[in-house]
Amino acid sequence: MTKNTNASPYMLTTPIYYVNAKPHLGHAYTTIMGDFLKKLALIEGKRVLFVTGTDEHGEKIVQKATAEGKTPKELVDEVSSEFRSAWEKLALDVDVFYRTTQPDHYKMVQNALQFLKDKGDIYFAEYEGKYCVGCERFRTDSEWNEEGLCPDHQTPPDLRKEPNYFFKMGSYQKELIKHYESNLEAIEPSQYRQEVLSFLKQPLEDLNISRPKTRLTWGIELPFDKDYVTYVWFDALLNYLGAIGYEGGDFAAQREFKNEFWAESHHLIGKDILKTHAIYWPTMLMGLEVPVFKKLHVGGFWMNKGLKMSKSLGNVVDPIKVSEHFGVDFFRYFLLREMSFGSDANFTWEAFIARCNSELANGLGNLASRVLKLSQKNFEMKIPSASGLNDQDKALVSAMKALPAKMAQEFEQCRYHIGIGHFNEAVAECDRYINDNKPWVLAKDPEQKDRLASVLRTAMEALHVFSIVSYPLTPEASLKLQEALGQSGEIVGALFRVDTGLDATRSLTEVPQLFPRLELPDLE
Ligand code: MSP
Repeated sequence: MTKNTNASPYMLTTPIYYVNAKPHLGHAYTTIMGDFLKKLALIEGKRVLFVTGTDEHGEKIVQKATAEGKTPKELVDEVSSEFRSAWEKLALDVDVFYRTTQPDHYKMVQNALQFLKDKGDIYFAEYEGKYCVGCERFRTDSEWNEEGLCPDHQTPPDLRKEPNYFFKMGSYQKELIKHYESNLEAIEPSQYRQEVLSFLKQPLEDLNISRPKTRLTWGIELPFDKDYVTYVWFDALLNYLGAIGYEGGDFAAQREFKNEFWAESHHLIGKDILKTHAIYWPTMLMGLEVPVFKKLHVGGFWMNKGLKMSKSLGNVVDPIKVSEHFGVDFFRYFLLREMSFGSDANFTWEAFIARCNSELANGLGNLASRVLKLSQKNFEMKIPSASGLNDQDKALVSAMKALPAKMAQEFEQCRYHIGIGHFNEAVAECDRYINDNKPWVLAKDPEQKDRLASVLRTAMEALHVFSIVSYPLTPEASLKLQEALGQSGEIVGALFRVDTGLDATRSLTEVPQLFPRLELPDLE
């Protein structure tokens, strides 16, 4: 978060991760996407609150702990800290790491439940349904595949019949449909909004929000019945409000700053948890009399050999090993560039190496090294001043200044990979400019010194723009490049410096290697 309290607030959340598995590429992607969006908002000058954490109750956790001969508490403490340290190792800039076993969370969830009970939104009844422990939810009859298995976990349903407490989710159906019909950008990409609206054409059932302690004790006890614990999704979704200090109960009466971030709340999720976020969560908010979140950003899956990468299917890529081997910039670049947000993508080493080499090493890496070395050699460590710019120089500078808006236009539509493509095209345009103007030839002729200065200064202005717009994408290289250009490296509001251009009173520093060429890893 920045100290500038006038800057507009922006709240970004990832799902809180189940601690029955170590962080894998699917989790890393979601958190990296969050960090990318945070950094984008920072360079725009916003005040950002980035929230992630761990989801620590429920049956899966107990199953996993039992299998490992641990208590649930031992397991959750251990795995939660692995998530926390994974995000540190990936240099992700998290503001709040939220755990659903933290004591203030228990109190908040109980207050929220009591609030709903007092207003008559919770009742007790017998229930029969088909449960998926992997999803930790009852799936309706149409939500099992042709073989009768959960499509996400490939497991059969667990038939359950028991009395439980229910939240009157169905009573909010009309209000929910109205909300999505009048907020066209509430769920993106838009195909997921359509999916939710078509699901809402069926009558919406009430939500089973408890588990009897005879089945499960690892959870938050209901404040009005000590024989029951809270259903894990009901407890988990409330993390988003807990992270801004909500205490349960009357939201409007609680301190102002919460509403400020909440009004700009963006939830990043995977498509497997669309229903819980697009249906359960807003109806819970309506019941609690809290405004609905601003937007759901719904991502697709990373696949491996045609199946969703997941711990239970045993086909995961370890994000820490990849980034320790190659560095965090390459890893995040590939994930953000390869996936068309909302659709599935495949992770293969061949694609990873090919993209990193052709787009980063041969792209910005090579360009920066050529331009900076020539500048250092011919103008000592000074930024050359351009005595006169010709039309080609001017065209390049104005194309580069227009780049952030061109990228932003795609980013606003969740087309991140295309926005990044514009960045690569701009680097290529600058490369062509260098090839046309041949500064290495100009450098041999003392009479061309002024022209050489103009060409290199023009290219350095372009590098300056790249150093700023690449911050969300490849932050380490971005900062290295800003330093090489002798620029401040101040991040908040950095996009404003695109218009002002280079501060030519500064001197260059050593030329860094931004992106070394990569080799295929030894897959053993
Ligand atoms: N605990 C719930 C979320 C509760 S939020 C109130 C949960 N946890 S999870 O650990 O199973 O998954 C968290 C996120 O990781 C989901 O958004 C899911 O889509 C994402 N991914 C898990 N595997 C994935 C891929 N293979 N690819 C991309 N993202 C996937 O669900």
